[in-house]
Amino acid sequence: TLLDTAPKPLAGKRAIVTSGPTHEPIDPVRYIANRSSGTQGHAIAAALARAGADVTLVSGPVSLDDPRGVRTVHVERAEEMRDAVLLALPADIAVMVAAVADWRVASASGEKIKKQADGATPVLSLTENPDILKVIGHHARRPALVVGFAAETNNVEQNGRAKLERKGADFIVANDVSPETGIMGGARNRVAIISRDGIDRWPDMGKDEVAEKLVALIAERFK
Ligand code: CTP
Ligand code: CA
Repeated sequence: TLLDTAPKPLAGKRAIVTSGPTHEPIDPVRYIANRSSGTQGHAIAAALARAGADVTLVSGPVSLDDPRGVRTVHVERAEEMRDAVLLALPADIAVMVAAVADWRVASASGEKIKKQADGATPVLSLTENPDILKVIGHHARRPALVVGFAAETNNVEQNGRAKLERKGADFIVANDVSPETGIMGGARNRVAIISRDGIDRWPDMGKDEVAEKLVALIAERFK
């Protein structure tokens, strides 16, 4: 095998990445979740590690292998993801890629909910989950560089900029996840990088390439 002589611009830096969906239980056999394969988040964690960073990846349930050279923590629920992220502080870099479920069932049933003979349907009462990116973006031990994603189906840039401000991020990686783009679950992505300096639209490229370019942008900030 070849010796890895690639430059390590992020040597000595600690990074936290979230990836995948979260699963919020309804009962022991059912859950609420977002669509997310974890492909983009895992690729970013791997690219940060290749750039020399010490990476903690907090992953929701995905069918991907743990990336090489990365400390991977597996979680199910948003609250568990938040706790694992806070445990990984302090860090220099946080990249929140996970498609966190915005709501959880207020009181999940400890027992399987059974269908009723009369066809009566259960009513789920939801409560909002912690916004992990917002917690990190406003934390007393905030990482020097905080990156969020914004998966949108419309007004991608406007919504992305609002998220940058509201969540205290340095960059928002905005992408259009309308079904016709094929981005959800696919290998390609088309993103726009939103910062306080403006917006940089990247062409359609592979998710691995997006990861490489994003890590190069992050490394630039630490020069
Ligand atoms: N995020 C998070 N915790 C949440 C919700 C979102 O950390 N509970 C992060 C995501 O990982 C992503 C960013 O916030 O980096 C934007 O997520 P998104 O779902 O697009 O934004 P929301 O604020 O949840 O707004 P909405 O879903 O209403 O568009
Ligand atoms: Ca959301």
